[in-house]
Amino acid sequence: MTILITGANGQLGWELVRQHRPGAVDMAAFSHAELDITDSAQVTNAFDRRRPSLAINAAAYTLVDKAETETETAFAVNRDGPAHLAAACARLNIPLIHISTDFVFDGQKGAPYLESDPVSPVSVYGRSKAAGEAEVRSRLQEHFIIRTAWVYGVHGNNFVKTMIRLARERDEVRVVADQYGSPTSAADLASAIWTMTDPILQGRETARGTYHFCGSGITTWYGLASSVIERAGRHTILKTDRVTPITTAEYPTPARRPPYSVLDCGRIEERFGIQPAFWEESVHTAVDRMFSEGELSAE
Ligand SMILES: NC(=O)c1ccc[n+]([C@@H]2O[C@H](COP(=O)([O-])OP(=O)(O)OC[C@H]3O[C@@H](n4cnc5c(N)ncnc54)[C@H](OP(=O)(O)O)[C@@H]3O)[C@@H](O)[C@H]2O)c1
Repeated sequence: MTILITGANGQLGWELVRQHRPGAVDMAAFSHAELDITDSAQVTNAFDRRRPSLAINAAAYTLVDKAETETETAFAVNRDGPAHLAAACARLNIPLIHISTDFVFDGQKGAPYLESDPVSPVSVYGRSKAAGEAEVRSRLQEHFIIRTAWVYGVHGNNFVKTMIRLARERDEVRVVADQYGSPTSAADLASAIWTMTDPILQGRETARGTYHFCGSGITTWYGLASSVIERAGRHTILKTDRVTPITTAEYPTPARRPPYSVLDCGRIEERFGIQPAFWEESVHTAVDRMFSEGELSAE
C-alpha cells in the first residue's frame, strides 16, 4: 500500500515525511519541484505511476498577504490543485486527506468554530482555500478535510522563527494582541494525520467529511511571541526579551485576518480519539528542536 503526499517540503509535508515509519505502508512523497498540483497532467501521471491507496494534500499557497495581489496563483494552487487531486482520487476510488484553514471563517463568531459553521472568508487566501474545500467535496465522496490554524514547523519559515530573529536583532518586539487563535505544531498535525490513516485505509472509518485540528487552548500572536522568546532565551543570547502588545490597527497588513479563529476539535477526538496537545507545550518542543536539530544556531 502506498500513500501519496504532495507539498512534501512544506512545514507539514516535511513532518509527514519525517514521521513515516517504514512498514506496511509505503510513501510516495512529492515536493513542489517534483509534482506541481496545478498541472492536471502531472497529477494524473503521478497517480498512475504510484497507484496510491490514499493521498494527502499538504501543498498550498500560504502567503496570506501576497495572495491579495497574486490572486490567480493562490486560486490555482488552493482551488484548482485540490480539484485535480480529488479527481485523480475519484478515478482510482481512493480517499483524500486535504488540509484547510481557520481563515475560511471571518472570526466574528466569538466562540470556537464547529465544522458545520458556514464559511465566510475575509481574504483572498481564505476564499481560495474555501473554494478548494468545495472542489474536494463536490468531486470526491471519500474525502477528509482537516482545517487547522496558526501552523509552525521546525522546518520552514514561520512566525516562531521570525520572533526569534527579531528578538536577536531588535530592542523591542511589537506583536498584535487582539487576534485570538490556537497555534498548531506541524509535528502534532502530522502525527494526527498519521493516526487517521490506519482506520481510513482499513475502511474502518466511514465518517468522511470535515474535521478541525489545532493546538488546545487559546492565545494571541502576542501570547505566542512571548512564549517563543522566553523559550528561545534558553538556547541563545537575545538582544531583548521585551514583547510589547499592539493592536491590529497599529500593524496594518494587506490581508484582513479573522480576530477570533479558534477551532472546536471535538469531532476529531470523538471519531479518531485524537486529543490536541496544549499549544504552549508544543511550542516549547518545537523551539527546542529548532536549536537541537540545527534549524537555528545558538550563535
Ligand atoms: N501555515 C499556516 O499558518 C497554516 C494555517 C492554517 C492552515 N494551513 C494549511 O496547512 C497546510 C500546510 O501548510 P504549511 O504551513 O505546511 O505550508 P507551507 O510550509 O507553505 O508548505 C506548502 C508547500 O506547498 C508547496 N506548493 C506550493 N505550490 C505548489 C504547487 N503548485 N504544487 C505543489 N506544491 C506546491 C510549497 O512549495 P514552495 O515553497 O516551493 O512553493 C510548500 O512546500 C496548507 O493546506 C495550509 O493552507 C496553514
